[in-house]
Amino acid sequence: MPSLLDIAALNESLAQSSARQILKKAFELFGNDICLSFSGAEDVVLIDMAVKINPNLRVFTLDTGRLHPETYRFIEQVRTHYQLKIEVLSPNAEELAHFVHEKGLFSFYQDGHSQCCSIRKIAPLRRKLSTISAWITGQRRDQSPSTRNQVAHVELDTSFSTPEHPLYKFNPLAQMSSSEIWDYIRALEVPYNSLHERGFISIGCEPCTRPVLPNQHEREGRWWWEESTHKECGLHAGNVNLS
Ligand code: ADX
Ligand code: SF4
Repeated sequence: MPSLLDIAALNESLAQSSARQILKKAFELFGNDICLSFSGAEDVVLIDMAVKINPNLRVFTLDTGRLHPETYRFIEQVRTHYQLKIEVLSPNAEELAHFVHEKGLFSFYQDGHSQCCSIRKIAPLRRKLSTISAWITGQRRDQSPSTRNQVAHVELDTSFSTPEHPLYKFNPLAQMSSSEIWDYIRALEVPYNSLHERGFISIGCEPCTRPVLPNQHEREGRWWWEESTHKECGLHAGNVNLS
C-alpha cells in the first residue's frame, strides 16, 4: 500500500472525475490490496465498471443469512455473468448461535437493528477489512439526505482504521444519481436484482427492507419501524455525526 495518503489533495484532484476514473486511481494506488464490497443491489454498476478496468478485481459480499432469495440468486448471476470469484462472508457461527438462542430471530423489531447488524454484518466486515488496505463501496450522496450527503470520493475510514492499520475507502459512485445509475444499467444491459421490479429501491436484509410508496425516499424502506433519521447499520457509521 502507498504511504499515508493526503486525502484532501486526492479528493481535490478527483473532484471532477468520473466513477471510472476514480476506480482507476484506486487500483493504481492499491493494486491487489483493495476489495469491492457488493450488496447485491444496484451497486452492480460498480462491478461492471471495475472488471473492465481490473479483470483481477476482488469482490466480497456480506451474507447475513437474512438476504432475500432473489438477492442470493442475483449474487450468483453476477458471479457467472462476470466470471468473478465473489467472496461470501458469513457471521461467526458461535456468536450468532448464542444471539439467536438468547433473543430469537426477530429481536430487531423490539430493540432495534444494531445488535443483529453488528453480529451479521459488522464483525465479518471488520475481519475482512483488517486484511486489506482499502475498500470500494457503492455509497451515493442521494441515497440518504441525512447521512450520505457529504460522502467523499475517497476517505480515511474512521470506523475501521486502527493506529497500526489505516484503511481507505473509495466511493466512486458518490456523485452519481439514482437515475444515472439506472440509465447505465439499461444502456449497458447490466444484470439487476429482480426485487427492483417489485418496488424495492434500496435493498438490505429481507426482514428489514420493504418496497417504498410513490414519492417516499428509498431509505424509508429500510428499518421502517425505527424513527431515526440516521438509518445506518454500522458499515458506514463514519457518515453519522453522533455529536
Ligand atoms: S447499508 O449500510 O444501508 O446496508 P447500502 O445498502 O446503502 O448500505 O449499500 C451501500 C454500500 O454498502 C453498497 O454499495 C456496498 O458497497 C456496501 N454494502 C451494503 N450491504 C452490503 C453487503 N451485504 N455486503 C457487502 N457490501 C454491502
Ligand atoms: Fe439483522 Fe436486519 Fe441488520 Fe440484517 S439488516 S443484519 S436482519 S438487523
